[in-house]
Amino acid sequence: MAKSEVLTNVVDFGDNPYLVGPHEPIRQELDRPDLQYIGEIPEDFSGIYIRNGPNQRFAPYGLHHWFDGDGMVHSAQFKDGGVCYRNKWIKTKALEIELDEGKSVWPGLMDSPDRKLKTSWGSDLWLKDNSNTDISIHAGKAVSTFYQCGDAYTLDPVTLETLGKLDLKSSGARQMSAHCLTDEDNGDLLFFDYAVKPPYMSYGVFNKEAELVHYTPIDLPGARLPHSMAFTKNYSILMDLPMFWDPKLLEKDIHKVSFYPEMQSRFGIIERMASGNTIRWFKADPCYIYHVINSWEEEQEIVLDVCRMSSPVPSKNIRQKLSGPYGAMLAWLKLDACYHRYRFNLETGETKEERLNDLLSEFPVINNRFGGLSSRYSYHVTLADTGVILFDGLVKMDSVTGKSQNYKFPKGEYGSELQFAPRNNCHSEDDGYLITFVTNMESGKGEIQVFPAEDPSKGPLSRIIVPQQIPPGFHSSYVLPENL
Ligand SMILES: [Fe+2]
Repeated sequence: MAKSEVLTNVVDFGDNPYLVGPHEPIRQELDRPDLQYIGEIPEDFSGIYIRNGPNQRFAPYGLHHWFDGDGMVHSAQFKDGGVCYRNKWIKTKALEIELDEGKSVWPGLMDSPDRKLKTSWGSDLWLKDNSNTDISIHAGKAVSTFYQCGDAYTLDPVTLETLGKLDLKSSGARQMSAHCLTDEDNGDLLFFDYAVKPPYMSYGVFNKEAELVHYTPIDLPGARLPHSMAFTKNYSILMDLPMFWDPKLLEKDIHKVSFYPEMQSRFGIIERMASGNTIRWFKADPCYIYHVINSWEEEQEIVLDVCRMSSPVPSKNIRQKLSGPYGAMLAWLKLDACYHRYRFNLETGETKEERLNDLLSEFPVINNRFGGLSSRYSYHVTLADTGVILFDGLVKMDSVTGKSQNYKFPKGEYGSELQFAPRNNCHSEDDGYLITFVTNMESGKGEIQVFPAEDPSKGPLSRIIVPQQIPPGFHSSYVLPENL
């Protein structure tokens, strides 16, 4: 059967809460200009909002976790007041194999893998590398990555066609995890990976010509589960946090995540192009961090702003409430994170930390031109009080005043990770727009919404209707015209 025909087949996904309702995978790949819209699409900005996320292709092998879905990218390309929507599956090596076989062949995060099955890539060799987590922009291409490391795939940022793998191995690098970061100032792509055998972490730099110009192992006391990293103008920051696979079970090839509150968090600061053995570790209170807001240098200090979870493990009460085959997934997928600031003093080795805002919020983004530089504003989503992860609003945080501006979506609408799109010739950090996809359960169609970044609480300036639903996803990027 031709692969294009398979794409339209209907799949029975059963009652898995991350495969039904707003999370139901979609079956079509579209390329649609001339969309209907409500309001006005501003003409004073252009670029492409791209968002990655899980969109399971075949009926799952066994129990399905939200993180197992095949990567699909959606985009909204803005130009001269017009917009074009596109979406495509990422053609990973694993998905190509499953397309050839016509079924899922890898178990998921919640399955007990049959050791006779195919192994895969990344830090957990039984998981399929689906490249569904993150999307970065580097050297004129989009780069998709998976949170448990693996291959990084390059995509055409306009057509969304998968171009192939980013060449890591011929340059001597191992793998790449999600949350590699582009320094818009000089075009570097900074990345890390992690593994269950030494070296437990690696760190590297591609330059703006997509050449690997730095790669070094990072010494850790054991296998860890970092989710992201940070950078300043001169330094990169890597994390050793006390939530990781139980080391005793890992010896038996069982990947069970545990939180160790008796341990401290450690943040490793390394000059961008320095050897791993020069890294300096700063200690802080135990926590888990999925996502970094920004980081920069202030005299002798490194400032690091994050969304921090002080108790990343679901409480006994929540675990008891959420029983059944998907209970563990539902319990663990609670992102109770708050805006938190660290200050690492390079002269004294001291760490200071404080919560800047008590509001629970996640998936933070900034004006990317301020990446690694002192910034004031960040844009987050708020989490709906539902059984599955859904984003019921957005919030602009001002780290100078401590104030925030909130917008709550109407009933049945759920947003995605935002991106900041600067106005042409923008003159200040928040001079631009916020873009998001919206899953609209009332209309059954997706939307692209554009908010004024100066005050998103005013609501969307434009609601562009997409002729298919857009399920919630993970991470996004914004492609400026000069980076195409
Ligand atoms: Fe993430």
